[in-house]
Amino acid sequence: MGLLLLLQFLLVAAAARAPAAQAWGKEGHYMTCKIADSFLTEAAATAVKELLPGWAKGELAEVCSWADTQRFRYRWSSPLHFADTPGDCKFNYARDCHNTKGEKDMCVVGAINNYTAALKDSESTFDPTESLMFLAHFVGDVHQPLHCGHVADLGGNTIIVHWYRRKSNLHHVWDVNVIETAMKDFYNDDQSTMIDAIQRNITDEWSSEEKQWETCRSRTKTCADKYAQESAALACGAYEGVEQGDTLGDDYFFSALPVVQKRIAQGGVRLAAILNSIFSGNSRLQSI
Ligand SMILES: *[C@@H]1O[C@H](CO)[C@@H](O)[C@H](O)[C@H]1NC(C)=O
Ligand SMILES: *[C@@H]1O[C@H](CO)[C@@H](O)[C@H](O)[C@H]1NC(C)=O
Repeated sequence: MGLLLLLQFLLVAAAARAPAAQAWGKEGHYMTCKIADSFLTEAAATAVKELLPGWAKGELAEVCSWADTQRFRYRWSSPLHFADTPGDCKFNYARDCHNTKGEKDMCVVGAINNYTAALKDSESTFDPTESLMFLAHFVGDVHQPLHCGHVADLGGNTIIVHWYRRKSNLHHVWDVNVIETAMKDFYNDDQSTMIDAIQRNITDEWSSEEKQWETCRSRTKTCADKYAQESAALACGAYEGVEQGDTLGDDYFFSALPVVQKRIAQGGVRLAAILNSIFSGNSRLQSI
């Protein structure tokens, strides 16, 4: 094979093996953004459409996995997908939000604040389309519990398990496997059926708490810090009783699925609240 082809092959192979895997898989991000879409004010929806790249065809959900495809082009963005902790079920910004070189703010919470501030600031030199695509992705990521997992096992990436019969790892179980199994078993392998089910819960089951999901009293930043704290606490539940080499099946699936569905719902509602506050200033968010 030609040198270029060989290089491409090596890059793809490296990407497939990269230990610090992606956030929610494509599906999780797509669903989060679809839900967000339905909570946007008209002004925010219009502003978002104007910023979307042509290939998105006017659909926010189409760009929500873009950030995962940029990890090699923008190497600095890799640590922005997560915020691992020492394992005390708590997220502490000052302690935990940095990259491996110790540079402050280089974690998913810092990134959400960074791109929100950039979109609010008309003088920002950052590309606003990229800021929007990063923001939409990272608000999804911060809600995936294992994106605030433990540093020692790279957020569950080094905990090798079987998901039913297939080899996987704990991080991937939460990014992808739980969602895939749910789609297959309950939703006719159809994303929109699953999205509709989550949407119905937001308006019925969770209607009384939904406003609180959005509430954010910080005057200077987003409330991503709080979302990471929730994830760090949920991560401890996700690790519980799981050992290297375990097989995870029905028991694990049925306890993880409600958490996954609720986190997708919260991610969607909060992404919309952040975008509404950026673009229309009249969301239910107090201020961010
Ligand atoms: C903020 O965004 C800029 C432009 O994409 C990037 O270079 C920088 O690393 C980001 N910092 C954080 C903390 O996200
Ligand atoms: C709906 O809410 C119930 C109760 O919280 C939960 O068990 C179920 O998993 C949720 N379903 C969806 C699709 O979110």
